[in-house]
Amino acid sequence: MAFTFMNKPKQAEVSADLLEEVANRPLNVISEVTGEIPTWLSGSLIRNGPINVAVNGEKNGHWFDGLAMLHAFSFQGAKVNYSNKFLHTDAYRTVFEEGSILYEGFAADPCHSLFKRFFTLFFPAQKIPNANVNVARLADAYVAMTETPLPVKFDLQTLDTLGVLNYQDQLPKAKCWESAHPHYDANQKRTWNYLVKFGRNSFYTLYSLEDGSPVREILTEIPVEEPAYMHSFATTEHYLIFTEFPFVVNPLDLITKGKAFIKNYSWKPEKRTTFLVIDRNSGDLVGRYRTRPFFAFHHTNAFEKDGRIILDIVTYHDARIIDDVNEGQFPAHLERFSLSLKNGEIASDVLFPYSSEFPSINEKFDGHPYRFAYVVGFGGKEGLHKIDTETKEVLSWTEANCSAGEPVFVAAPESHAEDDGVILAIILDHAQNSSFLLVLDAKSFKEIARAKAPHLIPAGLHAQFFKNL
Ligand SMILES: [Fe+2]
Repeated sequence: MAFTFMNKPKQAEVSADLLEEVANRPLNVISEVTGEIPTWLSGSLIRNGPINVAVNGEKNGHWFDGLAMLHAFSFQGAKVNYSNKFLHTDAYRTVFEEGSILYEGFAADPCHSLFKRFFTLFFPAQKIPNANVNVARLADAYVAMTETPLPVKFDLQTLDTLGVLNYQDQLPKAKCWESAHPHYDANQKRTWNYLVKFGRNSFYTLYSLEDGSPVREILTEIPVEEPAYMHSFATTEHYLIFTEFPFVVNPLDLITKGKAFIKNYSWKPEKRTTFLVIDRNSGDLVGRYRTRPFFAFHHTNAFEKDGRIILDIVTYHDARIIDDVNEGQFPAHLERFSLSLKNGEIASDVLFPYSSEFPSINEKFDGHPYRFAYVVGFGGKEGLHKIDTETKEVLSWTEANCSAGEPVFVAAPESHAEDDGVILAIILDHAQNSSFLLVLDAKSFKEIARAKAPHLIPAGLHAQFFKNL
């Protein structure tokens, strides 16, 4: 059986043999380090993402449906180790044990499953879902997440798959959509997230998990006729905010149409985009505020200021990016919306006019007034960019033939300034057919160090830094 690992178009190749061989090594100490890794950096950067595979030439083509692989850069005493491993999911077993590419996904065409015209087609009762989007710490476990329940636990040291995080509550554990972008509130010691219940009566269900608890406690359930695809949401001190894009689904279509999950959604610009503002203590819906139609995956941050809610979002003109993610980039801009809670007036302003994605911040400032956003640039602005949201000044890191992964901010010990720390990002060097971990000083955005990975790391999705406990 021949396995081929495919990268996104225009990317260098990496062989299946090498990925598997490196994954099976017990430890990879990286000796090729230039510069000096800060001695205080202690913990692991874990990056998740889809690896698209082909079996005997047949592929499960949408990038978002690739097999989940975790990549880890672990820091201790100015040294860095690397490891990687596929999550051992049902999809992984389908490919590697059954030699088949026929597993269902976000956009995978299920027409090969002719008889499966039921709800389970979209949310099959998988033992272990292909959690290829993000990683988080939930209920005292390290988990990989995608947009179907349940999160998949993994061992932070070995990256071994440990089974699902089985919530101990009455909320659905299947047949629903769940966001892979939870928000952690360090003051409340709670993680906030939401799911969408589909049915004759559909709901956005907002819930939180107390630290260490596998019980999802419902804050509120908002009835919705045509649920929107909302990849992430925003929080502020007093509110939780859904940005309801006009990219919506008739829930019955999920049951009757027999299409891949996301292909049941339609762009309906006449509905416009609506901000749903929810009181995070009472769960009351404070209001619905409409603005022009747009689409987004990622909220950068949000906060309250003088009776207004400020929301920074990477916006797209519409949702075509989902159909064409394999083909190339659509313009996306970091944009600031300013919403008056008094009269519903909404103003917007572009903070960074170039194509960008994967926005991140110093997580301590999540939901609070902040200044610095970090993004990956595309379409002529390849590299990493630090945007001062007050002055719109930009600092950039770029290198020829290189494309960057999500920038992750790690605060220096005893830090006070918002940008006192480092930025970690995995960089793909197309000319060298290799990858390296880049360490930038977050304040100056100058390179401090880089560590060469033992193989090319295909472009991925989200990463988090977990401190050594
Ligand atoms: Fe995301």
